[in-house]
Amino acid sequence: MRIGVLTGGGDCPGLNAVIRASVRKGVQYYGFEFVGFRDGWKGPLERMTRPLDVEAVRGILPRGGTILGSSRTNPFKVDGGIERIQENLAAEGVDALIAIGGEDTLGVATALGAHDVKVVGVPKTIDNDLNATDYTFGFDTAVHVATEAIDRLHTTAESHSRALIVEVMGRHAGWIALHSGMAGGANVILIPEVVFDIDEVCAWIESRFARGYAPIVVVAEGAHPKDGQMATQTGELDAFGHVRLGGIGERLAAEIERRTKKEARTTVLGHTQRGGSPSPFDRWLATRFGLHAIDAVHDGDFGKMVALRGTDIVRVPLADATTTLKTVPMALYEEAKVFFG
Ligand code: F6P
Repeated sequence: MRIGVLTGGGDCPGLNAVIRASVRKGVQYYGFEFVGFRDGWKGPLERMTRPLDVEAVRGILPRGGTILGSSRTNPFKVDGGIERIQENLAAEGVDALIAIGGEDTLGVATALGAHDVKVVGVPKTIDNDLNATDYTFGFDTAVHVATEAIDRLHTTAESHSRALIVEVMGRHAGWIALHSGMAGGANVILIPEVVFDIDEVCAWIESRFARGYAPIVVVAEGAHPKDGQMATQTGELDAFGHVRLGGIGERLAAEIERRTKKEARTTVLGHTQRGGSPSPFDRWLATRFGLHAIDAVHDGDFGKMVALRGTDIVRVPLADATTTLKTVPMALYEEAKVFFG
């Protein structure tokens, strides 16, 4: 069998670990051949490939990013896109695909199933907002980066008696904000799932200052205030219709300064959360996903995604993973509130 592999959407630490594990097991155990498709769905759409064998995956386990490149190309938005993918897969002699991606990439994989394209999905996103899996790889690394930043910001905030706002990624789900905020001892955590009240935020900030400490506010990029609009940086939409976010941290700092008369500054962590070497947990999870994805291909179990349930890797229908987002449950957010203010 000849297997195509692609990585789509925002890159995330651990993608190379999945690729390596699938190729190693596929070649050593099943005698499969592989071809890499470049830049997400753009690869099969435009027949952009690169060789993928054991030699090509040597040494990539700890490397961030993806050796295959990534993009947010949506073939369903391209005229004749699906037919071109079918033709190109046939021309490359590809029998099945492993698609590693988040909701958008796997949404395409789900829809392609109806067009006789054989796909196994692997869940990836630093946002951890994919349903049907307990965790996605990349999330743990992002939480490490954000927690380290929060730890560092505490000391400089105290020295200058400032409020420091840390803007983290998370468009629709506040997992990174919640986990890093709790781990880093933030005094306020704002997530997209809960519309925040700026009066309440300022009261928490003032109470923190009143006790002689400098507050740290962790805000997810998709968080928004009561009666407010989502903060947008450019208003531009990507191929999947998502607005490019950014700016809530700066808006929050300006509003906090205006209301509390205390200095407030913002640190936007941005793509530092996605870059660099994966954490040991993410290497472990990504490697296991890669091993189980190639087993699913070997078993002919297509239209499935590998998922983490407890400590087991299971297979779930791709559609289950992409129909609803996994957002932060209210009970978890309420737990964190003990430390607000
Ligand atoms: O989905 C992963 C993610 O990092 C989101 O947290 C973020 O909103 C988005 O990608 C940013 O995408 P881009 O790098 O394409 O602007």
